[in-house]
Amino acid sequence: MRVAVLVLGVVVAAWIGLGQTPTPREQPIPYSHKHHAGTLQLQCTFCHENKEPGELMGIPAAAKCMGCHKSVKTDSPHIQKLAEFNEQKRPVPWVRIYQIPSYVFFSHKAHLAAGATCAECHGAVAEREVLRREVPVNMGTCMECHQKRKASNDCTFCHEQRN
Ligand code: HEC
Ligand code: HEC
Ligand code: HEC
Ligand code: HEC
Ligand code: HEC
Repeated sequence: MRVAVLVLGVVVAAWIGLGQTPTPREQPIPYSHKHHAGTLQLQCTFCHENKEPGELMGIPAAAKCMGCHKSVKTDSPHIQKLAEFNEQKRPVPWVRIYQIPSYVFFSHKAHLAAGATCAECHGAVAEREVLRREVPVNMGTCMECHQKRKASNDCTFCHEQRN
């Protein structure tokens, strides 16, 4: 009986958890993907380069933005803040959206090579003014896709050094 209640509790908690769309957290600078990747049609990889060894896509330094913003919208206080980060060579303290614990192996390069798209794991980014974690990225969703795509679901595939 106690076990049944516990199991029910976990199921309900998981269900409520899934129903929640995390509200976006305020970013230090109100950067819009909708404007830059949507309206201006900048390629994702213009800003997010999959540098070797290919695990990360990375978030661009302010210098990348200043390519345009040294002349575009320089009267905006947000752009002035951006310019300040750039002059001081400091990284903009962006609030991270998708991050998994360091004990999990993950490589963008391997997944892009396998044909996975940005949208499968991150949603319709180019339509978003502000990003939030709209696609659940966790052990369950990793394994679900691995099962579908016939990739391994051995624990050591994602959790231990493989030789
Ligand atoms: C198979 C799922 C998957 C696909 C496909 C994918 N991502 Fe990711 N992305 C992730 C995960 C998981 C993280 C968190 C990685 C971490 O914390 O180490 C992440 C993190 C990021 C980050 C944060 C910086 C970083 O590298 O950690 C950016 C930016 C990003 N992804 C952009 C993209 C873009 C652009 C594409 C398409 C070219 C893409 N992603 C495709 C799952 C994916
Ligand atoms: C290809 C040129 C280009 C690049 C690169 C670019 N932007 Fe922009 N950005 C624009 C344009 C054009 C606008 C719209 C200006 C307007 O409303 O007149 C804009 C608007 C903005 C605004 C709104 C400013 C305001 O107060 O209205 C912010 C904030 C911004 N960009 C941040 C960034 C950041 C951060 C980066 C780098 C990650 C970046 N931009 C890279 C062209 C660019
Ligand atoms: C002009 C530069 C620029 C372009 C183009 C761009 N991004 Fe970004 N991206 C950023 C910046 C700056 C951030 C950090 C601020 C934020 O989260 O909105 C970011 C954050 C992200 C994140 C969240 C990373 C994390 O874990 O915190 C994802 C996912 C992402 N971008 C995907 C994409 C995809 C997919 C595209 C193409 C459709 C794209 N981006 C195009 C500059 C860019
Ligand atoms: C969209 C489907 C999809 C999602 C989501 C996905 N994977 Fe994968 N993953 C694959 C496929 C397909 C392969 C096999 C690629 C190959 O054969 O090289 C793979 C391969 C891998 C590999 C081996 C890569 C290498 O270096 O050889 C690891 C590790 C991995 N995934 C971890 C993860 C983790 C962790 C997550 C969740 C954060 C995740 N995957 C989410 C489809 C996915
Ligand atoms: C396809 C990749 C993948 C595989 C296969 C995988 N995991 Fe995970 N695992 C993850 C990710 C991603 C996380 C990070 C936690 C999260 O966001 O759900 C995680 C987290 C964990 C955690 C920590 C959970 C927590 O809440 O602290 C444990 C324990 C774990 N995994 C055990 C296992 C075991 C045991 C197996 C084999 C049955 C396994 N994992 C297979 C991706 C994977």
